[in-house]
Amino acid sequence: MNAIELMTYEHTFIRRMLTVMRNFSYQLMKDPGMDVSDAPKMIEFVRQYADKHHHGKEEDLLFNRMVDHLGSAAEKLVKHGMLVEHDLGRLHMKLMEEGIEAFKAGDDTARLDIIGNAIAYTQLLDRHISKEDDMVYPFSWRHFDEKMIHLINEETKAFEVKASEAGIQEHYLTLLEDMEAKYHK
Ligand SMILES: [Fe+2]
Ligand SMILES: [Fe+2]
Repeated sequence: MNAIELMTYEHTFIRRMLTVMRNFSYQLMKDPGMDVSDAPKMIEFVRQYADKHHHGKEEDLLFNRMVDHLGSAAEKLVKHGMLVEHDLGRLHMKLMEEGIEAFKAGDDTARLDIIGNAIAYTQLLDRHISKEDDMVYPFSWRHFDEKMIHLINEETKAFEVKASEAGIQEHYLTLLEDMEAKYHK
């Protein structure tokens, strides 16, 4: 797998967690007394896998090169599109986390903050992933020269080896499967 194929593949795992979050939200909407202790695990997956592991590669290996080498249209697309959406996703996770704390402290209205931010995040990321798969990634690969493509592929490989040694991919795939077993239709 080259870097783009790998990142596209990672989107499939992130999308599976988006489905988990939607199913969890629906259950919480129906059951005001629900145990929400799994919600921080979903946030942890988003922060550590979707954000640090996946967006980390996008931001540090791919998008920065698009900004530096592919002209003003690419710069605009990355800076005012992709990076803004990564940040908005982080805000939704922070607000969801605060909602969980408030709900656990007895504030029933905080279910709105949990569900609202979880769903907003899933919708944001779903669109974001489609844009990357259909437009941003292919655009970058069409316009980079061979040397740059080789560099990004090599850096991605090294990133993956390091993460694999730390057990990141395996840990978060297991977490995803655990959550899927509990939150399905
Ligand atoms: Fe992204
Ligand atoms: Fe992505």
